[in-house]
Amino acid sequence: MKKEKERIIGFCCNECAYAAADLAGQSGMKYPINTRIIRTPCSGSTDPLWVLEGLAQGAKGVFVSGCLPDQCHYGDGNVHAEESVNFLKKLLKAIGINPKYITSYFNSAGMPEAFSNSTTDFVKDVLSLPKLPDIKDKVKSEDKRERFLEILLAYATALGTIEKVNEKPIPREGFGMITVDEDKCVSCGSCALLCETDAITAKETKKHRKMYYAHHLCTGCEACVRACPTEAITVKKEIHLKPFLAKENNQFAGNQFVACSKCGAIYATVDILEEIKDEFELIDSKIVSLCPVCRREQVGVDYVNLSKYLISANLATEEEVK
Ligand code: FES
Repeated sequence: MKKEKERIIGFCCNECAYAAADLAGQSGMKYPINTRIIRTPCSGSTDPLWVLEGLAQGAKGVFVSGCLPDQCHYGDGNVHAEESVNFLKKLLKAIGINPKYITSYFNSAGMPEAFSNSTTDFVKDVLSLPKLPDIKDKVKSEDKRERFLEILLAYATALGTIEKVNEKPIPREGFGMITVDEDKCVSCGSCALLCETDAITAKETKKHRKMYYAHHLCTGCEACVRACPTEAITVKKEIHLKPFLAKENNQFAGNQFVACSKCGAIYATVDILEEIKDEFELIDSKIVSLCPVCRREQVGVDYVNLSKYLISANLATEEEVK
């Protein structure tokens, strides 16, 4: 009786898996009574967070079931669902949890017996596994990504595996890890300006700009790659669990500001001016020492944005400079 209380959650696509479960019931086929099925439009619409959330809220196991390969009614949702579950299995393994707590399998609407057998086998396997730590109270955030992180962190902390987390990167769309070529980076701040998730930020004082990167906030959108005028950034779409769980925010570059020789406003970093001085030599070597506003007065509008490095991101406002 005790084991019947241990719930198993199944996310089943409306078109096939749910229909197969329904038909299994109507045909008198059995699958364990502790299975609770949640109907989804397509297995591909099952958010990986829902699977983790199921475990975090106390389910003993979670499965995702969709149409047979090549038969998803919305294209390739079943392929995405399988990829998501495989990704989650790798994450669970990396934090020291047996990946058998979750699974995915395919069914057609006309395969009630296969659904019944797959579900029965999964439930049997899961019930033989030890109980996962109760982490319900540790998961509080309403932000999806933060909640995802909280669940993994809570499990790793409860299991004492946080220090031993597997370092191997796990490929996945929606996550990113940047590499910056320090010889090329001029700390222009363009990447931070375009980063929508604040994974890259610029911290400025009157004299310096320092660049920081937080992997746990990076979605791998590559806006920073497109923004970088020196092609210093590359992004790999993968998750590195250690910095992700530690919410590390590390400095990756930094440079001194240069002030306008006429008005005194800061407008570029030392490295930027070094990078562009040849461009300005061709017109008037002195205008490189002017901010865009004074440059406009001096040489006219044509040369205000002469260099791709002297974009507005490089002109800190008074509020930004503390
Ligand atoms: Fe069934 Fe997409 S509709 S998996």
